[in-house]
Amino acid sequence: MTPTPLLAVEDLVVEYPVADGVFRAVDGVSFAVPPGGALGVVGESGCGKSTIARSIVRLLRPTRGRILLDGTDIAGLPERRLRPLRKRVQMVFQDPYGSLDPHLTAEEIVAEPLRLNGMRSGAARARRAAALIDQVGLPAGALQRRPAEFSGGQRQRIGIARALAGGPELLVCDEATSALDVSVQAQVLQLLRELQTEQGLAYIVISHNLGVVREISSEVVVMRAGRIIESGPTGTVLSAPADPYTRALRRAALDPTTMRGRKPRALVSAIAADQEPVAADQEPGATQ
Ligand SMILES: Nc1ncnc2c1ncn2[C@@H]1O[C@H](COP(=O)(O)OP(=O)(O)O)[C@@H](O)[C@H]1O
Ligand SMILES: [Mg+2]
Repeated sequence: MTPTPLLAVEDLVVEYPVADGVFRAVDGVSFAVPPGGALGVVGESGCGKSTIARSIVRLLRPTRGRILLDGTDIAGLPERRLRPLRKRVQMVFQDPYGSLDPHLTAEEIVAEPLRLNGMRSGAARARRAAALIDQVGLPAGALQRRPAEFSGGQRQRIGIARALAGGPELLVCDEATSALDVSVQAQVLQLLRELQTEQGLAYIVISHNLGVVREISSEVVVMRAGRIIESGPTGTVLSAPADPYTRALRRAALDPTTMRGRKPRALVSAIAADQEPVAADQEPGATQ
C-alpha cells in the first residue's frame, strides 16, 4: 500500500470574480507530495501557480476540489478548524522585503508566529527565535536588526526562519528565490535542501525558472493556463519534455534575450554549474 501523501490536491478549481462573471485561474489540477518530498510547479507567468499556492495555505478558498493534508480535506474548512492545521503548512514568498514588517526586528518577526502558536514566555520565544536565526545561517547579531539592514538573500533567510517557526511539515515556496541574484539563489536553495535532509521538510517549489525547480524537486508538474499539461520525474520532464509547450518553456529559459537584468558573468556561471539559465525574474504584470 502506498503511504498517505502529506498533501494531495484533487481536481482543484479556483475562479476569481471578474466584471463579466468569473475567471477560472485553476482548472482541475491534481498532484500529491509525500512526506519529506519535493514537487516543482513550473509554468509561465499567469498560469495559476500562485493561485494554487494561496489555496494550499488557505489564503483563499478554492471554488471546487479537495486539498488533503494528511487525509483531512482543508479546502472548505472554516477558519476555526483550520487554525490548528495552519502551522503545518507554511509559505515562503517571493518578495521578502514586502512580506516582512519593516518596523520589526528579525527577532520580533520570527517570534510572532511563536506567540500566535501559544508560546507564552517571552524568554522562550527569544531563545527559539535565536535558534531559528542560527538555523537559517544568519549570525546572532541579526536578531536586533530590521529588514532594511539586510541584503535580499538575508531577508529571504528571515522569511524562511519565520516559516519554520511553527515546525511545519510542508513549505510552499512561491518564486522564493526569483528576486535574488543567481549566486544568492543557489545559497538559499542549498539551505532549503539542507532543511529537507535534516528535518524531513517537504516542499512545493513554485517557479517560472526551470533551473530552480530542477535543483530541488524530484517531481515536477508543468502548468499552462490553469491546467497541468505534463508531469513526472523532474529529470525526465526537463531533459526530454514530451509536450511542445514544455519544450518552448525550456527554449525560452535558454534564450539570452530573456535574460533581462542578468550580468553576463552570472549567466556564464549558471551555465557552468549546469543550472538552467533563467528567464527574467518578473514579467510585466506578473502577479504573486
Ligand atoms: N484576485 C484576482 N482576481 C482576478 N484574477 C486574478 C486574481 N488573482 C490572479 N488572477 C488571474 O489569475 C491568473 C493566474 O494568476 P496567478 O495564480 O497569480 O499566476 P502565476 O502565479 O502563475 O503568475 C492570471 O491570469 C491572473 O491575472
Ligand atoms: Mg505567481
